[in-house]
Formats: sequence, structure tokens, C-alpha cells
Amino acid sequence: MAKEPVRVLVTGAAGQIGYALVPMIARGVMLGADQPVILHMLDIPPAAEALNGVKMELVDAAFPLLKGVVATTDVVEACTGVNVAVMVGGFPRKEGMERKDVMSKNVSIYKSQASALEQHAAPNCKVLVVANPANTNALILKEFAPSIPAKNITCLTRLDHNRALGQISEKLNVQVSDVKNVIIWGNHSSTQYPDVNHATVTTPSGEKPVRELVKDDAWLNGEFITTVQQRGAAIIKARKLSSALSAASAACDHIRDWVLGTPEGTWVSMGVYSDGSYNAPAGVIYSFPVTCKNGEWTIVQGLAIDEFSRKKLDSTGAELTEEKELAYSCLS
Ligand code: NAD
Ligand code: LMR
Repeated sequence: MAKEPVRVLVTGAAGQIGYALVPMIARGVMLGADQPVILHMLDIPPAAEALNGVKMELVDAAFPLLKGVVATTDVVEACTGVNVAVMVGGFPRKEGMERKDVMSKNVSIYKSQASALEQHAAPNCKVLVVANPANTNALILKEFAPSIPAKNITCLTRLDHNRALGQISEKLNVQVSDVKNVIIWGNHSSTQYPDVNHATVTTPSGEKPVRELVKDDAWLNGEFITTVQQRGAAIIKARKLSSALSAASAACDHIRDWVLGTPEGTWVSMGVYSDGSYNAPAGVIYSFPVTCKNGEWTIVQGLAIDEFSRKKLDSTGAELTEEKELAYSCLS
């Protein structure tokens, strides 16, 4: 029997990530090849015509799984009945800007959209915040939507996770699908800590630690980390626009693994409401290694954290605490 359609909200749908993301969702990349979807697309009035153009293209693409499209500038209409909300709407960082620079523009959007989601989304709606500063926007959304369970509000660090997998795969000249269990700790910003201490590669003679295969701690503790931390800025410099296809693909990976589960023995990175695990600050949205099952994420516990890593976990945590204060000062 055919499944009931799932309603997926994409805010900022007329923007560049939106344009890459909606066809992926309509093709089943996010929720599975047998899962019909109804797309809810929100943007602001100046983008209404472009949004309508995206709707026209979705119709023209004749996606078999796409059972309906709502394209609107009305936040209540957009949020009504949605089961998954991917929050991309906001202002992107331009060359030379830090994420903090987009803070004041974006956190107020997340405060106002929090109440619309709280009042009109389906119960148990899963929320993924992509727009920057992603962790702090997600925190503001959580704080101003108190009836949505905190565990349902997450932010995207899967792009950073995938970037780390990509760098290791290039360094070792192995398939990216054979590399797993990197971790992105903390903020989706240049203080994030891409950690390979528990990462492995599947080889013909079994699973091997990344450190053992790379045999270059200086690279792993230096250039590898900064390349992943600065990749967003490198893409902006090269494209004069921020990453879009990789961000859209990572958003699909994030929701797919959350809803359908992570493979046995594999974890992924998600920005989730911190309970203070690994002595990260509690009460911020911090990226941890998680496994997912039955639609719920769980932080992987008990991983050894060496002194080098400890400092990095602490400094990205400190930045998140600072961003939280800054966000509140922007809202007051
Ligand atoms: P974009 O400017 O192309 O698109 C953003 C869209 O949001 C625009 O169409 C704009 O009209 C719309 N918008 C603005 N305010 C809105 C509101 N209140 N409600 C609904 N829509 C609104 O930007 P983009 O390149 O698609 O990037 C979107 C966001 O994602 C940016 O904040 C960017 O920095 C962030 N980003 C995050 C990651 C990540 O890994 N977390 C990766 C890439 C980009
Ligand atoms: C990215 O990581 O590509 C995005 O967050 C865009 C940015 O501002 O870095």
C-alpha cells in the first residue's frame, strides 16, 4: 500500500540552497524512494515571483513522488501540518564576513518563525536549521517554541562532517564511502573541531584507524582541521556565493539518517541541544557524534578525548556561549 505523503517545509526556498534542495526532496533523496512528499516552500514577498518560478519547475519535472506543492510568503500557511521543517531562509554570509556578522539579521527571523512552527506544524515535527549562524538560530527557535521538544530541533553540521570525510578520502586516495566516524564537535563555524581520532577506513584487510593510515599527525592536527573549518569561506571565495549543492545534499543526509536511522557501527554529526555530554556547555546547540534509530538521535558516549581535543571542544563551546549572549542582545 502506498505511504501517506510527508509534508516537508523548506524556508528560503527561492534561494540557492532551496533551488538545489527541493528537487532532491521531490526525488526521494531525503526521505526514501518510496516516500511521497508534499513540499511547502516559504520565502519573503520580494522573492515571491522567483518562488513561483521554482514551483513551475517542480511541476515541469513531473516527479512521481511529489504529491503537492505549497508556495507561499505566508508563514502560517507554510508551517501548517508540516512533519519536517528545513529552515534555510535568511541572509547568507558574503566574502569577508564572519558568521557573527549575519547574526542580527537572522536570529530575529528564527524568533518569529518559532511561534508559527510551534502553533501550526504537525506534532513531533522534526526541525533542521541550515541558515547561519545555524547553531544559534536553532537555539533561538528552540527557546521561542517551548512546546516543541528540544530533541526535535537540530542544526546542520553534516556538511562539515561530509567535508571531513572528503578530505580524508582525497588524502588516502580511498572511496569516501569507505571512510566513517569522523566527528564535528561544536559550532558550524571556523572554531568547529573536525576530529579523526575515532575515524576508520574499510580496507581489503579490515577496518583501519585513519591516523594509522594517514601516518601524518602534523597534517591531521593542522592543515586537515583548518581546511574543513575554512571550507565554507573557500567556497564563497571561489563561487562568490556560499555552498549550495553540498549544503542541500548534507541537509538530505541529516534528515534521512535521523528519520530512517544510521547504519550499524556508524555515527554522524548533528547539532543538537546539549545536555553537557563531554563537558560541552549545556543549553546551547552543539554538534556531537550521534546515532539514530526509530526517529530519535542519541549522543555516542564514552569516546576518549585527548588533551589536544579537549582544548578544541572547549573553545568552540565558549564561542557558542558567547553567540547565545550576542543573539539575546540582538533580540532585546
Ligand atoms: P540565498 O540568499 O540564496 O537564499 C536565502 C533565501 O532566504 C532567499 O530567497 C531569501 O529571500 C529567503 N529569506 C530571507 N528571509 C526570509 C524569511 N524571513 N523567511 C523565509 N525566507 C527568507 O542564501 P543561500 O545560499 O540559500 O543560504 C541560505 C542560508 O544557509 C544562509 O544563512 C547561509 O549562510 C546558510 N548556509 C548554511 C550552511 C550549513 O552548513 N549550515 C551551508 C551553506 C549555507
Ligand atoms: C558553509 O559552511 O559553506 C556555509 O555555512 C556558508 C558559510 O558562510 O560558510
